[in-house]
Amino acid sequence: MINFSAIVACDLAGCFSQDGKIPWHYPEDLDRFKQITMGKICVMGRNTFDDLKTYRGDVAEGEPILPGRETYVVTTRPGLNGNAHQLSSIYELRTTLPCNDTPHEVVMCGGSSIYKHALSLCDTIYLTCVNRTITTGERLYFPVYEMDRHFKVVQALQSVTNPGELGYFTFRRKQ
Ligand SMILES: NC(=O)c1ccc[n+]([C@@H]2O[C@H](COP(=O)([O-])OP(=O)(O)OC[C@H]3O[C@@H](n4cnc5c(N)ncnc54)[C@H](OP(=O)(O)O)[C@@H]3O)[C@@H](O)[C@H]2O)c1
Repeated sequence: MINFSAIVACDLAGCFSQDGKIPWHYPEDLDRFKQITMGKICVMGRNTFDDLKTYRGDVAEGEPILPGRETYVVTTRPGLNGNAHQLSSIYELRTTLPCNDTPHEVVMCGGSSIYKHALSLCDTIYLTCVNRTITTGERLYFPVYEMDRHFKVVQALQSVTNPGELGYFTFRRKQ
């Protein structure tokens, strides 16, 4: 049985990327990402994967990009290195994932097109809200308004180390 979820950190308007990068750096939020995704299957687009590789520095061939997690990267380009499984389309996921009785969670990790699919697939969205509004550069947005229509908040936590700056929300699909 497969459960789909999505994870994103965005500003008050839903911006999650500025000029091809995450526009902030909060180690605490990275820890939350790690804690939520650990032991699960992570799916991301090629740009997110490349950005992650840059962030992680030199990850040796064959060494997982996200230790403890199976990573699937959606790309039309062949030749992804051994750090992750390659999918030529998001729809390939259903036929590629292990099919057994063990429940597992697939976490959609962005960017834009992965999030677009996520809204129709997911039951849960883990959202970090960064209390600012990015107004410059080339920006990408998580579809927060569509999310509000179909999901409701089931947990809201204030950051302990960055109070007023970071809020952690879990959304569940409305019945
Ligand atoms: N703040 C956050 O929580 C967060 C989370 C995730 C990402 N980000 C940021 O978002 C940015 C990347 O997002 P993005 O939207 O530009 O890129 P992306 O979705 O990560 O990657 C786009 C690429 O993925 C492949 N792809 C996506 N959908 C596909 C499909 N349906 N079929 C086949 N291939 C598909 C294509 O790769 P090919 O061109 O190789 O075919 C496409 O060019 C980065 O800055 C990243 O750091 C932020």
